[in-house]
Formats: sequence, structure tokens, C-alpha cells
Amino acid sequence: MWEIARDTEVLDLNSTYAYTLLCRDFADSSIVAERDGAVAGFVTGYRRPDRPDTLFVWQVAVDAAHRGHGIAGLMLNDLLDHLAVAGVTRLETTITASNTASQELFGSVARRRHSTLTVHDLFAPHHISPEESDPHEAEQLYVIDPA
Ligand SMILES: CC(C)(COP(=O)(O)OP(=O)(O)OC[C@H]1O[C@@H](n2cnc3c(N)ncnc32)[C@H](O)[C@@H]1OP(=O)(O)O)[C@@H](O)C(=O)NCCC(=O)NCCS
Repeated sequence: MWEIARDTEVLDLNSTYAYTLLCRDFADSSIVAERDGAVAGFVTGYRRPDRPDTLFVWQVAVDAAHRGHGIAGLMLNDLLDHLAVAGVTRLETTITASNTASQELFGSVARRRHSTLTVHDLFAPHHISPEESDPHEAEQLYVIDPA
């Protein structure tokens, strides 16, 4: 997972330890896809502590060699189906304005699940940038709600 995240060159790369903890403590709300015995993609997420009906998707990534085959969409759908029995009905994620692939991915998930997709401002650059001279792009909140 760490290698796939690193190779995207667009995701914020967490420490290997952070991915290991996510695999232990958030396995129920995360998923990996395997191709030929190797991890080809992953979704990390958690149920929001103050809103347990909501899956917050932290990162989604598919190895470049396996993109365009529906793997990201399948992982998100499987995760939502799996968590539905535990009462999860909403999905939230944040996306930057420049990440067209991610916008298309979540738009596609919403359409396939016959759900509504709404977009709101969430984090401005000053919320997430350690230094003003190197601003992080703003993150918009995407919410998928059952129709
Ligand atoms: C975003 C990403 C996870 C998509 O993975 P993928 O397995 O190729 O996506 P899928 O094949 O499941 O595609 C799902 C939908 O998104 C669309 N899509 C995927 N990549 C796209 C792109 N680069 N441009 C436009 N649309 C795209 C597909 O056409 C599909 O739409 P459809 O169902 O209407 O046909 C992958 O490109 C990636 O790892 N990118 C780098 C990391 C990243 O930006 N992650 C998201 C932010 S956390």
C-alpha cells in the first residue's frame, strides 16, 4: 500500500507505520484489491466517530499498471456493501480541484448506487499547509448519500 501510494505522486504519503496501523485498526473500513497475488490497489477509511453512519474515505489508489479496469470503483462498492449491514449509508471523502480522476471515480460510484453526490468547501490551503510558501491545494468535501 505504501509503495502504491508513493508511486501515485499525487497522494500525501503517510509513514509505513501509519499504513500498518490502518490495516490493524481500520481493516473493517478499508480494503485491498489483489491481482496475481499482489496488492493492485487499496482504499483506506474509517467510520466517523461522531457520525457512525458515515464512511470517510481517506485514500484510494490503484497501481498505474492496473488502472482503467474498474478496480477502484469495485473496491468502493464492496466496502459500502460490506458496511451497509453495520448501518453505514453515507460516504465522505475530500478531493482537490485538480484531481479529475478522483472526481470521476466518486461521481461514478454515486451514479451506480443511484445516490446523490454533493460537494462542499471543507479545508482551505491554510488549514493543511505547514508553510505558506508551499500551499497544499484546498480539499473539497464530496458526500455520497442514498437517494
Ligand atoms: C483515481 C484512481 C484510484 C482510479 O482508479 P481506477 O481503478 O483506474 O478507476 P476505475 O477504473 O474504477 O474508474 C472508475 C470511474 O472513474 C473514471 N476514471 C478513472 N480514472 C479516470 C481518469 N484519469 N480520468 C477520467 N475519468 C477517470 C472511469 O472512467 C470510471 O468511470 P465510469 O464508471 O463512469 O466508466 C487511480 O487513477 C489512482 O490511483 N490515481 C492516483 C491516486 C489518486 O488520485 N487517488 C484519489 C485521491 S485519494
